Amino acid sequence: MKANQERIEKHIKNLSHFTATPNQGTTRLTYSEEDLQARTYIKEQMKAYGLEVREDGLGNIFGRLEGEKKDGPSVIVGSHFDSVPNGGDYDGPAGVVAGLEVAALFQENRVKPAYPLEIIAMVEEEGSRFGGGLMGSRGIAGYLQKDAIQQMKDKDGISVPEAMKKIGLDPSLEMKRNPETIKAFLEMHIEQGPVLEEEQISIGVVESIVGLTQLEVTITGKAGHAGTTPMDRRSDALVTAANIIAKLPQIAIEEGEGTVATVGRHEVFPNGANVIPDKVVFSVDIRSSKEIHVKNVVQKVKDVINSYEMDNIQTTVEQSLYMQPKELNKEIRSLLKDSCEQLDISYLTMNSGAGHDAMVLSDITDVGLIFVPSKEGLSHCPEEWTAIHELAAGVEVLYETTLKLTEES
Ligand code: GLV
Ligand code: MN
Ligand code: MN
Repeated sequence: MKANQERIEKHIKNLSHFTATPNQGTTRLTYSEEDLQARTYIKEQMKAYGLEVREDGLGNIFGRLEGEKKDGPSVIVGSHFDSVPNGGDYDGPAGVVAGLEVAALFQENRVKPAYPLEIIAMVEEEGSRFGGGLMGSRGIAGYLQKDAIQQMKDKDGISVPEAMKKIGLDPSLEMKRNPETIKAFLEMHIEQGPVLEEEQISIGVVESIVGLTQLEVTITGKAGHAGTTPMDRRSDALVTAANIIAKLPQIAIEEGEGTVATVGRHEVFPNGANVIPDKVVFSVDIRSSKEIHVKNVVQKVKDVINSYEMDNIQTTVEQSLYMQPKELNKEIRSLLKDSCEQLDISYLTMNSGAGHDAMVLSDITDVGLIFVPSKEGLSHCPEEWTAIHELAAGVEVLYETTLKLTEES
């Protein structure tokens, strides 16, 4: 029943080829050409492992092994397969490949589960194309309506349904999944931090996930000639944005308890070297383990932005994502720990500073999340790396736990 390391390595490697930035990390934006290539590959593997494949109204991929209880709720295992720009090969795909390997082990060991097993590969967890993030799982949980996804557009103005149709997906299908059809969701993910590697521990059993929010801030000024407009006659949107952004780290530091704030994306318009910028749009990502800190920082960030509002400078703030901190299911946490003990695999309990689809799905079902070590804690960069034997250990814990959850009870 050992996980097959060659098979895991092959899938990770094959998926890593589906990138828009070869030799500069994985860039796999949702509904892109590379998404289509990865999706085709994942669906082929699912079929090879005897799963029945379908895609929902957001293009999340499900591969199903029927249970003896035909209408019983499913145990779902998987993660997301999109990436950040120039990211790594493991954030997301490691969990999808783990799901595939669980299915391969069910097939190899001829396991006939009482409850159905479903392997899932979700879209747009990172929000790199349409902003916000966690889109695939938010659709499944019923948090997105058809007209809302119509309004979600990428930087070129292409909406979610338009982008879906371009790669042959059907946005008219249902997105929301009836929670009664799900028994549990299990996700394996790379840690994206240094703890497991430093402590030489194989598995992190996650107890809770940080609360997080993302704001989209727009500063509007007035364009003008860079050479002829005197300094005291300018309404420079970029200078205003820069002044605001420079104040944000201190707000997070003062809030304390590990609260963090990041401006990771900004767009300058019209973006000409000799034109005074008339518009800047930037993101603010705020996270903390306690919701009150997230709320305090949001208010303080809004106050700073407001203080720059003048006759010639306008500001708007939109909240594109808000997730409360989530504690994950206690029983599943202890099942995961039991599996580690049974397999003699070392583990510790930990909290997650990264957002995960698991936090969304925990609103509609019992969820378990495990971490495997990340080399030097690196993630969201091309250097992201996890040893294959560590991925295999994670798969074994997932497999053992999935067996228990799909058994007759
Ligand atoms: C996803 O990686 C996130 O934590 O934003
Ligand atoms: Mn990520
Ligand atoms: Mn991820």
